Amino acid sequence: MVVRGRLASSVVAAQDVHRRYGGVVPELASRDHQRLVLPVVGDALEKAGVALRDLTTVAVTYGPGLAGSLLVGLSFAKALAWARSLDLVGVNHLEGHLFSLFIEEPHPPLPFLCLVVSGGHTQLVVVDEDFRYRTIGRTRDDAAGEAFDKVGKLLGLPYPAGPHVDRLAAGGDPSALPFPRTHLPDLDFSFSGIKTSVLYHVRDRAASGAPPLDDAGLADLCASFQAAVVSMLVRAVDRALTRVPVRAIGVAGGVSANSGLRTALRELAAKRKLGLYIPRPAWCTDNAAMIAVAGYHRAVAGHLSKLTLTAEPALAL
Ligand code: KG4
Ligand code: ZN
Repeated sequence: MVVRGRLASSVVAAQDVHRRYGGVVPELASRDHQRLVLPVVGDALEKAGVALRDLTTVAVTYGPGLAGSLLVGLSFAKALAWARSLDLVGVNHLEGHLFSLFIEEPHPPLPFLCLVVSGGHTQLVVVDEDFRYRTIGRTRDDAAGEAFDKVGKLLGLPYPAGPHVDRLAAGGDPSALPFPRTHLPDLDFSFSGIKTSVLYHVRDRAASGAPPLDDAGLADLCASFQAAVVSMLVRAVDRALTRVPVRAIGVAGGVSANSGLRTALRELAAKRKLGLYIPRPAWCTDNAAMIAVAGYHRAVAGHLSKLTLTAEPALAL
C-alpha cells in the first residue's frame, strides 16, 4: 500500500490456502507471503502511479504475529530500505489496527477508547492526546475472533468463520439459547466459557440422538452465541467508559466488521453521548493501509527503525 499524505493505493492478497485446513498453517502462510510480496508491492506502486525511486520511507509490521510471515515482510522491507536508502519504520500490528481509524476521515477525537478485536487479540486501549497507548483490559484466554472461528469450525463453517456466523446470526433468534456470559470484575475478557458451552450444547444434542441442526437451528445457535460475545465486549466497554474520560469510542480489528457488535456499540455510544468510529469493513480486517498510516505517523514523529529491526512474534501493545 502506498501513502502520499493520503492513501494512494492498497492491495491485499487473501490466502485461500488455509481454508482447506480450517485454520492458518504457519509454513504455508510464510511461503505464500514469499511468493506474493513482490507482485503485491509492484501492484500497489502501479495503482498509486508511484515509482520505487519516489519512495522515501518503508513501513513494515515486526510483530505480533507468525514468525515466518513477519520475517518475510521484514527481510523484504529491510532489503528495500537498504538498497534504495529509504527510511525504515517498524510498526506494531496492533498499533496498525488503531490507525485503521485514521485511514479516512472523520478521525476520532483524542483521547478515545478503542476496542481492538481481532483473531489474535482482544483488548481495550486508551489512545491519549499524544497518541500514547495504554491497555486497560485484555482477554485472559481466547481472542473474540478466535472464539468465532472455533465455534464456526465446530458447526462445519469455512475458515475464517466470523463472517459466516455473522451472516447466519442475522436470521436467528439471539435469545433462543441461553449461553452464559462471562463478565470479569475488572476490564478483562474471557471467551473460553462460551466456546465450551457451545461445544457441550452441540455434543449433548448429538448424544441425545436429535437430528442434525436444520437451517433455523443453526441460525438460532449463531445468533445466541454472537449475542453472548457481543454482550461481553460491550459491557466491558461500558464499564471502561465509567473509569476513563474519553471523547469517543473506536473499534478496530477483524471482529469490528461484525454487524451485531456494530449495532450494540452504536446503542452504547448514543447512551453515553459519544461519537462511535468504526473503519469501513475493508480496513477492519488485516490490511497494509493501516500499517502504512501508522508508519507515516511514526516517521513524521521521527520514530525510525534501524536495519537491525527483528521479528517479535509476541510483541505487546
Ligand atoms: O484483524 P484480523 O483480520 O486478523 C488478525 O489480526 O487476527 O481479524 C480476523 C478475525 C477472524 O477471527 C475472523 O473470523 C474475524 O476477524 N471476523 C469476524 C467478522 N469478520 C472477520 N468475526 C465476526 N464477525 C465478522 N463479521
Ligand atoms: Zn490484525
